[in-house]
Amino acid sequence: MRALGVIRLTMRWWVFFFLSTLPWTALSEGGERGSVMWRGDSFAVEDASSSFLASPSGNFSCGFRQVATNAYTFVIWFTASADATVAWTANRDAPVNGRGSRAELRRDGSLVLQDLDGHVVWNTNISTTSADRAELLDSGNLVLFDESGRTLWQSFDWPTDTLLPGQPITRYRRLVSASARGLPYSGFYSFYFDSNNILNLMYDGPEISSNYWPNPFSKWWENGRTAYNSTRYGSLDVRGRFSASDNLQFDASDMGAHGVMRRLTLGYDGNLRMYSLDVSGAGTWQVTWAALSNPCDVHGICGRYGLCTQGLGGAGAPVCSCPEGFVVAEASDWSKGCRRTFDVRCGEDVYFAKMPGADYSGFDLNYTKALTYHECRQICLDDCNCEAFGYKHGGGGKCYTKIALWNGRLPDSYQVIYLKVPRRVGHLDPSVLHFGGHACTVLEVNASSNSSSYSHLPAAHSKLNFVYFYSFLAGLCVMEAIFIAAGYLFVFRADTAARRIRDQGYSLVLDHFKRFTYDELSAATCEFSDEIGRSALGAIYKGVLDDGRSVTVTRLEEVMQADEVFRSELSAIGRINHMNLVRIWGFCSEHSHRLLVSEHVDNGSLDKALFLRGASLGWHARYGIAVGVAKGLAYLHHECLEWIVHCDVKPENIMLGADLEPKIADFGLAELLSRSRVQGTRGYIAPEMALNLPITGKADVFSFGVVLLELLRGQRVCDWAVDAGDEEVLRMDFRRRVALLREETRDLQEAWLEEFVDARLHGDFSYLQAATMLELAVLCVDDDPRRRPSMDAVVQTLLSTQDVMPTSVRHAHAASPDQEISHIDPMV
Ligand SMILES: *[C@@H]1O[C@H](CO)[C@@H](O)[C@H](O)[C@H]1NC(C)=O
Ligand SMILES: *[C@@H]1O[C@H](CO)[C@@H](O)[C@H](O)[C@H]1NC(C)=O
Ligand SMILES: *[C@@H]1O[C@H](CO)[C@@H](O)[C@H](O)[C@H]1NC(C)=O
Ligand SMILES: *[C@@H]1O[C@H](CO)[C@@H](O)[C@H](O)[C@H]1NC(C)=O
Ligand SMILES: *[C@@H]1O[C@H](CO)[C@@H](O)[C@H](O)[C@H]1NC(C)=O
Ligand SMILES: *[C@@H]1O[C@H](CO)[C@@H](O)[C@H](O)[C@H]1NC(C)=O
Repeated sequence: MRALGVIRLTMRWWVFFFLSTLPWTALSEGGERGSVMWRGDSFAVEDASSSFLASPSGNFSCGFRQVATNAYTFVIWFTASADATVAWTANRDAPVNGRGSRAELRRDGSLVLQDLDGHVVWNTNISTTSADRAELLDSGNLVLFDESGRTLWQSFDWPTDTLLPGQPITRYRRLVSASARGLPYSGFYSFYFDSNNILNLMYDGPEISSNYWPNPFSKWWENGRTAYNSTRYGSLDVRGRFSASDNLQFDASDMGAHGVMRRLTLGYDGNLRMYSLDVSGAGTWQVTWAALSNPCDVHGICGRYGLCTQGLGGAGAPVCSCPEGFVVAEASDWSKGCRRTFDVRCGEDVYFAKMPGADYSGFDLNYTKALTYHECRQICLDDCNCEAFGYKHGGGGKCYTKIALWNGRLPDSYQVIYLKVPRRVGHLDPSVLHFGGHACTVLEVNASSNSSSYSHLPAAHSKLNFVYFYSFLAGLCVMEAIFIAAGYLFVFRADTAARRIRDQGYSLVLDHFKRFTYDELSAATCEFSDEIGRSALGAIYKGVLDDGRSVTVTRLEEVMQADEVFRSELSAIGRINHMNLVRIWGFCSEHSHRLLVSEHVDNGSLDKALFLRGASLGWHARYGIAVGVAKGLAYLHHECLEWIVHCDVKPENIMLGADLEPKIADFGLAELLSRSRVQGTRGYIAPEMALNLPITGKADVFSFGVVLLELLRGQRVCDWAVDAGDEEVLRMDFRRRVALLREETRDLQEAWLEEFVDARLHGDFSYLQAATMLELAVLCVDDDPRRRPSMDAVVQTLLSTQDVMPTSVRHAHAASPDQEISHIDPMV
């Protein structure tokens, strides 16, 4: 079977597995220096992999760490953790050059980091000739001792985002989060003692600062803290208990377990977590305590006007959205929040639009009790600075008038936010949410949630089951199910549809998706004269609509469904809108004609750009295409309850936009064709498809793996010579293969990779990125669907090395790391 041949072929390249060893593996292998650095000693960044300090028991190491192609930091890391987790960074905001930089214990007694040009980027600021040595202790503390063994300086006094057992947090020190996953730079969250002597978590962003833990709406004594001990000291002990002078105390869930390595880290997502290292197994971290159970309690996460909902991103991850009337300020960074599409002038005629179940915490102009709704409303009306007010209908007449809307979250069982909207704007329903440009519906369900910060409120009003379940596109899926269940097939006149749905308590936005007449399409394509290709579905024509939009019209030759069925199938895909998916603008269904109208993408399909003789797709573009396609598939698989499986991922179905941004075509159409017609394409089909077994999104993951290999190799997988020689190696388990690979020398590995990657690139590619792609590809083409990674995981892995530029870009964060704040992995 051909598909299995592919697996064998790719597995033959077992040498891939050395690639799973990202740069730090090399670090842990070469010779080392012991735990001491004497006065006059130095480390060169070029020797990062072979020279570093190791604590006496080997639990911690200290040396240079690569953070981007040509950017290095000086760090202490956990030797035994699989990803060499960093516990401390000297120069987190000022990485040094990958050549010519050094760490040196100077003769004058200062420990410094010096960049290529001789500039000192970091300095312990201790200069005394009595300094003798710097030593990495088993606690993970790097200490500068004088001759008599007195401590002159220690890294424990300068924490970054992590506290180790025995390392205190004090009056003068704070933990500051990283800015994004995998990046060393300082972010906006901190853990510190405030002026009341209380340990706090705070979001300290460019526009606002806001405390979110412990519960900012309770007094310190209600939170079990004390403000009367001004010692300001807290620390974690080796058994897993943290205690502080403000009475804060918490224990790890594995409290007391012997010989466990622990850390307390303020994550880039703003949550503070305690972890234990699983050294017996894979060297992974287990969360043994977390400050917040709901990631939406973290402030600043969705920015101004943004609303945070837990769990829609899968695995409890928070998802941000903007209410109707607002648009996302920066789609790549939801922490920038939403922009209002209207302004409110003082004294103009306004009304209040309702957002049931929403809460924006903080920024209250005035908080008052025992007001009626009308009194509360009047206060907001009378005050030009009032943007909205929250009213708790649960009794007690709690009224919160808001000067700004931040820290929005859903659902809040008791509260309704009333948003001030000028009458001239017309009708606005802010309970309709937009996720990344998507219309999304609000469905009413009866969830029982009392996780709001207002848990001290009186019991919920029984009539108010306004607990909302806000769903990303999932809402639309459910919606479709409702239509079908009710025998109510899709209604295309948007306004009636919307009104009808609203009557049932739902609201729905339909935009741009349209039914075309056959005559319209015939005119647009000059009577179907410009055939530009054929897909599995049928002939494809280019055309221009009345409004000037260039479109592609596909004649669905095999589709024979009745009009209503066809319409209902399309209704779902018509509303899918993602930058890496070809946008479906509409369709035509008249008599026996079934046509699909979609966005025209300029640069042809990937197969032409990649395989044609004379094609020259650069490395940067190839990696960008891999990331884009992965994002598009992840969107199809995960943001709609594994709802859409493409079933035919291949270069022919990957269209390239003007700047080579990929867009996947022909998605969601598998259902339109009868099962026997959907067979994927040879060379790309997963074994389970070939064997006619049940198909899940993992079939697409397989095909994506093949596309990754082709991007690397520049050649169709089917064209590679099949040589099943290395059967024995294949039978080894993963760990033995890794072990074998580690024996390979570094030079050979690089040479090997160079041989593997498309020769047309002439070696002009990023080693790290190519290694990541290969490793992923091999995982993706596993013949057991369960062992293949999910598309979400694939995206995360690819993004983690995306900011590695092939050229020398030192401050990679300035060059836009593609961080998706809207999907935050709670475990890291
Ligand atoms: C050393 O002094 C410089 C300049 O005052 C300061 O920016 C830096 O943070 C200090 N370094 C340490 C480790 O204290
Ligand atoms: C204040 O906190 C410190 C450190 O936790 C503790 O040793 C000390 O006893 C506390 N003082 C009072 C008066 O509780
Ligand atoms: C080093 O790690 C091992 C395994 O986790 C632990 O048993 C040992 O106590 C650690 N050594 C020190 C000095 O912390
Ligand atoms: C807050 O509301 C109370 C009661 O309505 C009012 O007396 C007071 O003046 C208000 N304070 C401000 C600052 O608006
Ligand atoms: C609604 O609430 C009832 C009672 O708590 C529960 O049994 C039922 O499963 C809930 N329905 C949904 C759809 O959550
Ligand atoms: C609901 O609140 C009660 C009392 O505050 C708490 O014990 C319980 O764990 C909460 N349940 C959930 C699901 O948060």
